[in-house]
Amino acid sequence: MSESLSRQHQVLGEAVTRIISDYTSRLDELPLTSKASPGELAQLFAGPMPQLGISVEEILERFTEDIAPHAMQISSPRYYGQFNPAPLPIGVWADVLCSVLNQNAGAWRNGPTSAHVETQVLKWLCELIGYGPDAFGILASGGSEANLLALKCARDYANQQIPVAGLPAANAKLMVYASEQCHFSVEKSLDILGMGRNSLRKIETDDRFHVRMDELKRAMERDRDEGCTPCCIIGLAGATSTGVIDPLEELAALARENNCWFHADAAYGGGLAFSDKHRSQLRGIELANSVTFDPHKWMFVPFVCGATLVRDGAKVLRDAFDITPEYLSEDRGGADVAYDMFRYGQMGTRRFNALKVWMALKFMGKQGYGEVVERHIALTHYLASRLDELSDFERLGEVETAVCCFRYLPAAVRNLEVERQDRIQQALQQRIEHSGEAFFPSTVLHGRRALRININSFLTEQRHIDDLVELLQREGSRLLEGLSDD
Ligand SMILES: Cc1ncc(COP(=O)(O)O)c(C=O)c1O
Repeated sequence: MSESLSRQHQVLGEAVTRIISDYTSRLDELPLTSKASPGELAQLFAGPMPQLGISVEEILERFTEDIAPHAMQISSPRYYGQFNPAPLPIGVWADVLCSVLNQNAGAWRNGPTSAHVETQVLKWLCELIGYGPDAFGILASGGSEANLLALKCARDYANQQIPVAGLPAANAKLMVYASEQCHFSVEKSLDILGMGRNSLRKIETDDRFHVRMDELKRAMERDRDEGCTPCCIIGLAGATSTGVIDPLEELAALARENNCWFHADAAYGGGLAFSDKHRSQLRGIELANSVTFDPHKWMFVPFVCGATLVRDGAKVLRDAFDITPEYLSEDRGGADVAYDMFRYGQMGTRRFNALKVWMALKFMGKQGYGEVVERHIALTHYLASRLDELSDFERLGEVETAVCCFRYLPAAVRNLEVERQDRIQQALQQRIEHSGEAFFPSTVLHGRRALRININSFLTEQRHIDDLVELLQREGSRLLEGLSDD
């Protein structure tokens, strides 16, 4: 530590820039996955607590030799995994600048500029999804936390005694409704909020995986008859497995009729709002009391960054989360209190995450994002049409965003019992994962195993999709050869 701070940054900056530039120049060739086992990786990082420090060169060498090659290569154009896209360079470097300032974006006095940048970013996101000028929000760690914050607002809206008295004292049996395709964070949030996982009614979906309104209405009536109070309806705008969008306008109307909170989980699908061509798919989102929107999904900012947006503004969040510790007393009465971001969410010390969203939005512009979203959806339709031409694949649902789900069902598999067909989907996914040539997960749709491709990298081109189709056919045939040898 004897070198000056500025010299240390210069040495590290130059070395790290070389690593990043070399790494990103090889993204198209890198295997997506490492063949190392958990035991081998555990061995690689085992060792006693360092007693004496080592040089940055040695540390960076460990990164290039041991860490980067065994990482999941999320930035590859052949990564088709969960909604985890390659980060924009401006976002990566914004993260560095965020760390160097190391603002505590909790209270205004600890991070005055961070508070204003965050406020501005939130206003832009609110405007993007069609909220009015009073709307506000808070950046969260991701979609899971954003859903938790929104459900806390929903719970308190149903019964304002709960935050202080707790659920038993308020004697409230509050129920939440969402499609069976909702993200697991909903169930976790209800547990954390004391409402219990059983307070979630998972509603069946139709053959295109949208929530069934008839089933939803029936479930709400049943609950009312049993003395429970419907508290919140959640609409999915980009479901995790299928990318589809629930009928948001209809859900909003049903919520209004039942005096329920309406939350739209647009963690992924919120990105559609950037595109003039596709934003109408989100019709009704502006009626939601709250919206989850993840900049670390379709906005390509590095992890982690989510947002809870609230239609009726800052007061709703302050009612749910504000508290004033002695050392941040409001008594000083300054205009800064309104910019104390800790008052609008659950975190105390907060990272200046708004910087990467602000820089990414300035760099891409709404139009730039709209173009990528449109290209991703067009590529997904292209993939779907390629699969439709092949008799070995059966597509599931429709392409509404950049997600395409299907099964590998050649003639030899079609007549097998369903459990065997399911195992074949998993086996094909595993083969391709282990090959390192591409990555995508499998999922379960209407109780059956399916393959799920999300085109999420801004580096993915049509030639990658052609390679993917060829890979699916090749590995599928090899898998069948292996089965017939058994
Ligand atoms: C619809 C939806 N909501 C919420 C989440 C949770 O987001 P995160 O992983 O950022 O916590 C996801 C994650 O994929 C999602 O797909």
